[in-house]
Amino acid sequence: MKVLVTGGAGYIGSHVVYRLIERGHEVTVFDNLSAGHRQAVHPKAKFVQGDLLDMAGLTVAFDVNQRDGASPFDGVLHFASHIQVGESMRDPFKYLRDNVNATTNLLEVCTATGVDRFILSSTANLYDAPKRIPITEDEALIPGSVYGETKYIGERYLMWMERIYGMKYCCLRYFNASGAHPDGIIGEDHRPETHLIPLVIQVALGQRPHVDVYGTDYDTPDGTAIRDYVHVTDLADAHILALEALKDGKSRVYNLGSGSGYSVLEVIESVRRVTGHPIPVKDAPRRAGDLPRLVADSTRISAELGWEPEYDNLDRIVETAWKWHQSHPEGYGGQGLRV
Ligand SMILES: NC(=O)c1ccc[n+]([C@@H]2O[C@H](COP(=O)([O-])OP(=O)(O)OC[C@H]3O[C@@H](n4cnc5c(N)ncnc54)[C@H](O)[C@@H]3O)[C@@H](O)[C@H]2O)c1
Repeated sequence: MKVLVTGGAGYIGSHVVYRLIERGHEVTVFDNLSAGHRQAVHPKAKFVQGDLLDMAGLTVAFDVNQRDGASPFDGVLHFASHIQVGESMRDPFKYLRDNVNATTNLLEVCTATGVDRFILSSTANLYDAPKRIPITEDEALIPGSVYGETKYIGERYLMWMERIYGMKYCCLRYFNASGAHPDGIIGEDHRPETHLIPLVIQVALGQRPHVDVYGTDYDTPDGTAIRDYVHVTDLADAHILALEALKDGKSRVYNLGSGSGYSVLEVIESVRRVTGHPIPVKDAPRRAGDLPRLVADSTRISAELGWEPEYDNLDRIVETAWKWHQSHPEGYGGQGLRV
């Protein structure tokens, strides 16, 4: 397949690109490098540096691959987005403007050039008031932030694209993406970092004095919040399965989690085990908007596409993350890590 990956220089996108290339697909990465890293892009991928907000640049990326009358890409995977829940509540217009306009532009070019398979990176942040845990795809969609709202809009958009243009789509609602390529060659490097596992590993690396634990009085066994950590290469496999499955002409929505919930303290304990570092912690008040428990029910994608997460154990996920961070303590380099 010929595949376009927006945000393919970012954390999840770069891992999906590696997997696509390992499976023999032809990949074009489109990324403005606002948060991604050129070094994260597989050397065999075609790289186009451009911004989804710039329609002219986007059109060039599609023309580059133009085949006689045929669609330039067999599928488009759309990862590019601002991604921070907290920031989206402080600067809502950045998210509403950029995330929504980026998706609008991309879909306009896709429909104009006959792309008929599309995969959207969606999020567990659509489930702000789950009635049942683990959470199925049928749970009410209530975005928990402006960031989540922009993903909700993306999902709604795709429903219209199917109705009007016949585009087939898959919305993949990730829970907490984590871990790194098992060889340690690419991994997570968000700046600022807001995700728990890399933050705890920064303590093990001596880059941060302690970890703040936000909320120790939740109604959970140890009082700290529980999340579902899904390995980034398992996410990558799910994208490839979904892309292939769309050939049957049926659009879909799937939750992607590993099915197990781990508390903040359990994650810290796992990093202690894997790294051998004591990891000092400091208790802090709950953060506004954090839910006590978010765990995915991924039965639907397992039953329909045969997706089985290989990393169903937290220590194994942390081991891959540790391998990456230990061999790349400054991530992809550049500005150095902030604490
Ligand atoms: N990381 C998670 O746990 C998680 C969970 C749920 C959903 N998601 C979604 O998955 C996707 C990827 O997340 P990530 O953690 O890899 O994020 P990331 O920030 O590492 O990657 C996003 C990439 O998109 C690029 N980008 C952003 N705006 C762009 C634009 N206008 N034009 C071109 N490129 C642009 C950035 O440079 C970056 O490389 C996002 O859509 C995010 O919302 C992530």
